[in-house]
Amino acid sequence: MSMGKGRLGGKVAIVTGAASGIGKAAAELFRREGATVVGSDLAAADGIVAADAGNEDDVRRLIADSVAAHGGLDIVFANAGVSGGLASIFDQTAEDWAEILRVDLIGPFLAIKHSAPHLKARGGGSIICTASVAGLRSGAGGAAYSAAKAGVVSLVQTAANQLAGTNIRVNAICPGLIETGMTELIYKAARDNGVAHRIGELNPLQRGGEPDEIANAALFLASDESSYVNGQALVVDGGLTSSMPTARRFDIRAE
Ligand SMILES: NC(=O)c1ccc[n+]([C@@H]2O[C@H](COP(=O)([O-])OP(=O)(O)OC[C@H]3O[C@@H](n4cnc5c(N)ncnc54)[C@H](O)[C@@H]3O)[C@@H](O)[C@H]2O)c1
Repeated sequence: MSMGKGRLGGKVAIVTGAASGIGKAAAELFRREGATVVGSDLAAADGIVAADAGNEDDVRRLIADSVAAHGGLDIVFANAGVSGGLASIFDQTAEDWAEILRVDLIGPFLAIKHSAPHLKARGGGSIICTASVAGLRSGAGGAAYSAAKAGVVSLVQTAANQLAGTNIRVNAICPGLIETGMTELIYKAARDNGVAHRIGELNPLQRGGEPDEIANAALFLASDESSYVNGQALVVDGGLTSSMPTARRFDIRAE
């Protein structure tokens, strides 16, 4: 394997959901850090390969083609996802559930299943799956989305252990509220109603996050800097999930 410059120099990476938001930011950052990146999304575009992340044939082909084109695979960021909106359980159908679970949970499973043999052939690698704070607590998505994301947190634990001895690390990232295509309507509604300043007010940083702030966490997990981090869910949410709900506020006073 050639050693290039940057924190991912000489590595080959696949990023799913790379046409927008977090995946787009991560694909660009991984490239800047020296990786050869295959970005994929539902539709082909400049620098984007078409592959449905929840379809096994597509995932198998995406991975096989990437390995054939670039001589191997070191990093997979299984990031593609759909939210399904904030509908209540009474308004969701079994078909809604099946589609959300297909993309958000079976997608990462397929990415792990079909990439691990190639990573093992390189002597190891890093698989990162995008979960969500919605998988840790209620209140950040619909029931199917939250259940799928909780499943991703569990999946990386199981996968990390089933891949014991391969030097493949499997981790998840749990973003809080990030401004992307998925949250566009939330941000638009807040701006239209003159309450943009209230976006993210429930976390101690009191703001929403940027895609680059998740891409940076993905870069850490993709790189050898996280060489002893395995089977974990890294929460990147401005502190949102670090507290019980509370109305108390504290003044900072000088001594
Ligand atoms: N934005 C947030 O606040 C937030 C918070 C927590 C978790 N997430 C997660 O982050 C990940 C990225 O989402 P984002 O916020 O960047 O949203 P986004 O909508 O901007 O990007 C998601 C991308 O995934 C693609 N995609 C959807 N279904 C696909 C499929 N079946 N196959 C391939 N590509 C598919 C979309 O076309 C889109 O380009 C998702 O897994 C999402 O659940 C987002």
